[in-house]
Amino acid sequence: MGEKPWQGRFEQPMNKQVEDFTASIHFDKRLYRYDIEGSIAHCRMLAACKIISDEDASLIVGGLGEIQREIERGKIDFTSGQEDIHMAVEQQLIQKIGEVGGKLHTARSRNDQICLDMRLYLRDLLSQCRSLIHELQKVLVSLAEQNLDVIMPGFTHLQHAQPVLLSHHLMAYYEMFRRDDARFEGCLQRTNVLPLGSAALAGTTLPINMEWTAQYLRFPRITENSIDAVSDRDYLIEFNAAAAMLMMHVSRMAEELILWSTSEFAFIEISDAFCTGSSIMPQKKNPDVPELMRGKTARVYGNLMALLTLTKALPLAYNRDLQEDKEPVFDTADTVVNTLRLLARLLPEVRFNKERMALMAAEGFTLATDLADYLVRKGVPFRKAHYVVGQLVQNCLRNGTKLHQCSLDELKTFHKAFDHDVFPFLDIDSVIDHRKSLGGTASSRVQEALHRARRELQTKEQALQLKP
Ligand code: ARG
Repeated sequence: MGEKPWQGRFEQPMNKQVEDFTASIHFDKRLYRYDIEGSIAHCRMLAACKIISDEDASLIVGGLGEIQREIERGKIDFTSGQEDIHMAVEQQLIQKIGEVGGKLHTARSRNDQICLDMRLYLRDLLSQCRSLIHELQKVLVSLAEQNLDVIMPGFTHLQHAQPVLLSHHLMAYYEMFRRDDARFEGCLQRTNVLPLGSAALAGTTLPINMEWTAQYLRFPRITENSIDAVSDRDYLIEFNAAAAMLMMHVSRMAEELILWSTSEFAFIEISDAFCTGSSIMPQKKNPDVPELMRGKTARVYGNLMALLTLTKALPLAYNRDLQEDKEPVFDTADTVVNTLRLLARLLPEVRFNKERMALMAAEGFTLATDLADYLVRKGVPFRKAHYVVGQLVQNCLRNGTKLHQCSLDELKTFHKAFDHDVFPFLDIDSVIDHRKSLGGTASSRVQEALHRARRELQTKEQALQLKP
């Protein structure tokens, strides 16, 4: 590009290497829709405030509409000479409608313009992420409903701990994603604020009307301080922090999918269409999709760290450093959107090996706590009961037997409180059904949780559809 819009003050043209180094067009072009939407709002406001004439405004709005269509048809080549999306659009506009296009930038700066673009962009992205979380939650609830009869070992320290329903385990993830959704919703509150009108940093002397623009662009609030408005990137950091937490949850699920599909676990099989093979070992079927989900969590954490470091100790107000906020945010956005989308498709492709899970549920003395609880009901102090059952387990280990294989006489040699009514405490199904404490794994509790989730999803579905 020849002349820069600021060329007035400069004697020499810009060095080509500097032009390339400072350009952001190759990544911020994805903001074109928001940039144009914001410019149309700004232009209409300028006309409503009689800062520009209605005729000029309709020329500008018409030109901006055409530019949008041309970008969408791939007719516009972006080059680093244009520097960024704001200048690219303005340059196109002036080319198209002449000098009057130069009136668009009245009473604004790229500093407040980029903040507006990013807030508009993030507002859409947050809704998209929330819908995708919603879809994923629906899949989890369906899976949990379909597998209510599946029992598996619950783990602590990755050792068999106590039997649980698979549905209960799946619904644990539902809860994590519920909190993730709430974090995105909270982030939306703080994103949905209009910064345009803050201009370079101090506001403007021209008689603009920010309320007008806010209403036009459906922003419920306007920034309170122009210096903060152009310096603030909290909403982007918050988004990335919420995304990092979400990916952490995804990575935990991915890890379990990977572990559970090993021949050691053999709890699940992922369908061929969602697995990959090995270039050397013909027998291999690898869980690359969950592995990559686990792996991609790292870049989202990295992006969060990049954003925090970028803004650390940065003096007020706008500094060019802030241009570096976009690539981490876009990368996080793409990663989260693609991961959530695929995870919702992958989960229905998982076949649970019910027999194997049930078999393993009983392995490793997983009913020992229940046996101790039985003694507690008979008035034995828990600490004593714990010791007695510990001794019993040791005995079984020595003899290569299982708890449920012990006869009543045998049990009585460990504690006299053992009686005929002990046997339900050695039966997995009945043990699970007795775990009725709030949030427990009893099937009655899990069914309640599923009903609650269905109701919640329905309410959310209506709320999300009502959003603009
Ligand atoms: N491309 C810039 C960014 O992303 C836009 C704002 C430029 N402002 C400026 N004073 N150079 O931050």
